[in-house]
Formats: sequence, structure tokens, C-alpha cells
Amino acid sequence: MIPDATGPRALRRPLVAGNWKMHGLSAEGAALAGRVTGVLADLFSARDRPVDVVLCPPFTGLQEVGRAVAGSGVFLGAQNVHWEDKGAFTGEISAPMLLDLGCEYVIIGHSERRQHFGETDASVRRRLAAAARHNLRPILCVGETWEEREAGRTVERVTAQLHGALEGLGRETAPTGLAVAYEPVWAIGTGRAARGTDAQEVAALIRRLLGDLLGPELAVRTRVLYGGSVKPDNIDEFAGQADIDGALVGGASLDAEAFGAIVRRFAR
Ligand code: 13P
Repeated sequence: MIPDATGPRALRRPLVAGNWKMHGLSAEGAALAGRVTGVLADLFSARDRPVDVVLCPPFTGLQEVGRAVAGSGVFLGAQNVHWEDKGAFTGEISAPMLLDLGCEYVIIGHSERRQHFGETDASVRRRLAAAARHNLRPILCVGETWEEREAGRTVERVTAQLHGALEGLGRETAPTGLAVAYEPVWAIGTGRAARGTDAQEVAALIRRLLGDLLGPELAVRTRVLYGGSVKPDNIDEFAGQADIDGALVGGASLDAEAFGAIVRRFAR
């Protein structure tokens, strides 16, 4: 159980999201989702959900995974969203299309999108605005590279990304249910997770910046997650930190038992 589930922390239900990235055909996704709902069934029979759990399969798995989690209490999320609702945007998927398949969450600005697909703070901001318009809950990803960390530029980088994504969106148009995931690029898929205390420092910075950008009420309610080589055996590092309200899990989310163990650590 989380030690300090009182005070500001009590306002934030923990959130654990599985980012399956480009893994799994639809039948495999449905089977994995079934195993996840199975291992978490007792948690979700509780009246007051102790933790929000989101599964983010590839677009092609959304329909089948959506069916597999229907009625279980587990939410469906996508890995990206386009900023327009429709139009001549070959290969893109819009917010109404995601809603049509039952999505409630969407990952935006993942470092793999930034690194390999030219995603910028400006495009991230447009995607966030689209999510806000359609009441899709965004999980906005930020984080520095190893070179930036080594050069002492973590604060500068995360600040620039958060400002770039949220500045000018304004309180009124801020996405409902925004979560921010701190994912240091060097910790993703490397087996080399950040130290809990370092992640907490950046999570606290993110919350301060959210206060400047969106106001104190939203800042205290926004869930800040850690992501990057999260596993059952290192999750204690993160779950005990005051500003870390959950995890964005890559590799370990493809294993229902491991993912279930991570979720349980955040259940309150
Ligand atoms: P890993 O957990 O595989 O390091 O991936 C983290 C991530 O990128 C989640 O979005």
C-alpha cells in the first residue's frame, strides 16, 4: 500500500498503464488482456476502484482488447492520436475513431514517437488539444536523453517539453484527466531504471510546472507517472515517492503476472 495516502496524495487515484508498443496480433492482445483482467479481478470487485489500469495495445488490437476488458474495470488506451477529426491524413487515427472503439486514454508524445517519427512539442500540443476536445484522457510523456542528463540539462529539457505541450492550452481547455509520464529516454527498454529519488525529483518539478501552467488545483489532481524499465522487483523504488502516482510500463506489461504485481503495488 502507498504510505502517504492522505493529504494531496489522496486526491489522486493511482494509475498504471501498459504500453504494449508494436507487439501482438489482435487475438494475442485479447488473450493477454483476458489474463490481466483475471489476475486483477479481486482488485476490481472492490466498490471503490483502488487504482486505474489502462491497456494500450497497437491500433489494430484496440477492438479485440476493448471487447476483452469490457465490464472488467480496466480501461482501453491508444498509443497516439491525430489532431484533426478527419481529413486527408493518410495513416493517421483521430480522436473520434478512438472513442468509437471504446478508448478512454491516449499516450501522447512518447519518446519513441519523438525519436523515430519526428514528433515535436508543437505536434504534441496539437494532439493534446484534440484529446481535450474529445474528453480522451492523455498520458503526456516527457523525459531527457542520457546526454542531456550527463550535461545537467534534465530540468531544462523537461521544462521545455511541458511548456511546449501545455503553454497556451489554458485552464479551460486543459485536457480532463491529464496524466504526465516522466520517462527518461535512457531508461526505456534498457533494464536500467532511474533511481526512485531521482524520478521523484523530476516528478516534483513536473508538478510545480503544472501549477504554473494550469493552476494549483489541477496540479494537485494530475497524476504523475514514472516509466522506464519498471519491473515488479524495482517498483518499490517508485511507489513510495510522494509525487509518483503510478507507472507507464512497457516490456513488463506484456506479462500479465508481472504487470499485475506492479498494479498491486500502487493499489490503495
Ligand atoms: P520499458 O518498460 O520497456 O522500459 O518501456 C517504458 C516505456 O516506454 C513505456 O511507455
